[in-house]
Amino acid sequence: MEPTSGKAPFDVIAPDYDASRGGTERAAGFADMLAPLLDPGLPVLDIGVGTGIVAAELSARGHLVHGLDLSPAMLARARDRLGPRVAVADACRLPVRTGSVEQAVSTWLLHTGPDHAQVFDEVARVLRPGGRYLVVPAGGTRPTDDVGRIVGDLEERLDPGRTRQDGPWTLAPIAEARGLVYRGRASERPVTFRISPRDMARSLSRGLFTGAWAIGGEGADRLVEETRSRLLALPDPEVQRVREAADYVMVFAKPGPAA
Ligand SMILES: C[S@@+](CC[C@H](N)C(=O)[O-])C[C@H]1O[C@@H](n2cnc3c(N)ncnc32)[C@H](O)[C@@H]1O
Repeated sequence: MEPTSGKAPFDVIAPDYDASRGGTERAAGFADMLAPLLDPGLPVLDIGVGTGIVAAELSARGHLVHGLDLSPAMLARARDRLGPRVAVADACRLPVRTGSVEQAVSTWLLHTGPDHAQVFDEVARVLRPGGRYLVVPAGGTRPTDDVGRIVGDLEERLDPGRTRQDGPWTLAPIAEARGLVYRGRASERPVTFRISPRDMARSLSRGLFTGAWAIGGEGADRLVEETRSRLLALPDPEVQRVREAADYVMVFAKPGPAA
């Protein structure tokens, strides 16, 4: 079985990452949400750039993007897309000068496990006054169909401290404690996606589903197996469920004159 609790699971799933996360369509959608909030005349730091699929779409819209990521295998793909403007680095210890960043983004980073307080410590440090940090959360809304309820239950049990929750109710107080201002949501758009119970069960066992990676909960492998059985016991497990959610950008700003 692929890792559900390993330290660097993104190195394992890197070859499957783009295709398993909606490919270019998702990335283009995120870039369309972010681009109107970014100044095209200033560079962008993408923290947790992954394979660079979103950063490449931002580049295609005229932005100069630098990327940092912990996973060498994800980053190898980002290097193919962005060239040498990427580096291996931890979001909790950014190799970036204090007060030097005008604008930073993270898409689907904070639900994967980095310590939110440390990330915001670093973001607050590297942003220049007036700078902004734009975050697209993974768990901003939770689907309520039968697959979504079973998977949500798994996520709760694997992460009882809710350290992976990345909605504004979690992040805004953390950011504000570090002197950043939460300016609210922007670029909100409904998204619909489809998955069958069987495909979700398959994705769990291949380690593709981030929510199944344990942080501090009960025995991860046993819980994942239980969840797979629950999914496969649903009526019509081959039939795709239509899942409704919403994507949005959270805007954090460091007080000071805008650039
Ligand atoms: C779900 S992927 C998202 C990648 C990309 N932003 C996207 O939207 O396609 C999360 C990425 O965050 C990276 N990551 C997780 N923890 C990190 C940390 N502490 N520092 C830097 N990158 C981290 C992972 O290696 C992975 O590439």
